[in-house]
Amino acid sequence: MSHVKIAVFPVAGLGTRFLPATKSVPKEMLPLIDRPLIEYAMDEAREAGIEEFVFVTSGGKSALENHFGAAPELERRLRSGGKTDALAAIERSRLPEGALSFVRQEVPRGLGHAVGLARRLVGNRPFAVMLPDDVIDAPRGCLRQMVEAHAVHGGHMVAAMEVPQEAVRAYGILDVAEETARLARARGLVEKPDPALAPSRLAVVGRYLLEPSIFDRLANAVPGAGGEIQLTDAINADARRVPVHGLRFEGERFDCGSVPGYLEATVAFALKRADLGSDLARTLRQRLAGAPRAAA
Ligand code: UTP
Repeated sequence: MSHVKIAVFPVAGLGTRFLPATKSVPKEMLPLIDRPLIEYAMDEAREAGIEEFVFVTSGGKSALENHFGAAPELERRLRSGGKTDALAAIERSRLPEGALSFVRQEVPRGLGHAVGLARRLVGNRPFAVMLPDDVIDAPRGCLRQMVEAHAVHGGHMVAAMEVPQEAVRAYGILDVAEETARLARARGLVEKPDPALAPSRLAVVGRYLLEPSIFDRLANAVPGAGGEIQLTDAINADARRVPVHGLRFEGERFDCGSVPGYLEATVAFALKRADLGSDLARTLRQRLAGAPRAAA
């Protein structure tokens, strides 16, 4: 049984790297093949034992709300038309009534600010934060790996992976005190450091397990990198009181908030699909060899 039951999904960002696609469609609704990004994160959360889901949204995200609501007319038609696969696909995204809550972030003041808005719903419990545009392909879900490690070590825990030196300026970076197996104990975190000054190359990706003490730090937070209230700054401010660990998770992370990462994820996931993989591999081989497209 997992001791972490509630997850916060901050989805109120502007998604500027994906404009104009994200002008009216939330980034989290972009399809990775035939499922929106948000479903991959929800599956990972459920596998980790999460039962309550809090979305921090901005205006214009009603598509997300609708996605998890019932669609009686569509379901009736699929049922009467014998389209059982399609019916199963939409039933799979259903959540029990009452499991989903929405909190509104009126102005995108940063990830830390968005997480702070979930305080009343989370209360005094440890909780997960998941950024759905980070898709993690792993034999055992990344969040589940973290929940298991957190049951032993407690404190704040972030998903961590090594990045090239030049890339550290795009991430929160751990100041590593010691490492045991996959777990790095951190003295603190620094958001988007200059590569020359970065304390390590171990970067935070979009999964966090946080103790409720983080809310006091967020309540007093001031804008940091990019003029935004940063979650990593709040974790750093708590690091003297609460242990902070980075888990080098098993699995591969795709930054689906960027066009190149999204493309790579699409190809990687499609190649693994029984119904798509071999045709796609053949098409890619032909294209890479410069061969003209065979007639369908
Ligand atoms: P990103 O750094 O990916 O920003 O946010 P973004 O606005 O979504 O996208 P770009 O960089 O402009 O393309 C990381 C996560 O934090 C959420 C985002 O929705 C995303 O899940 N976020 C960010 C908020 O909920 N509120 C904010 O004010 C900022």
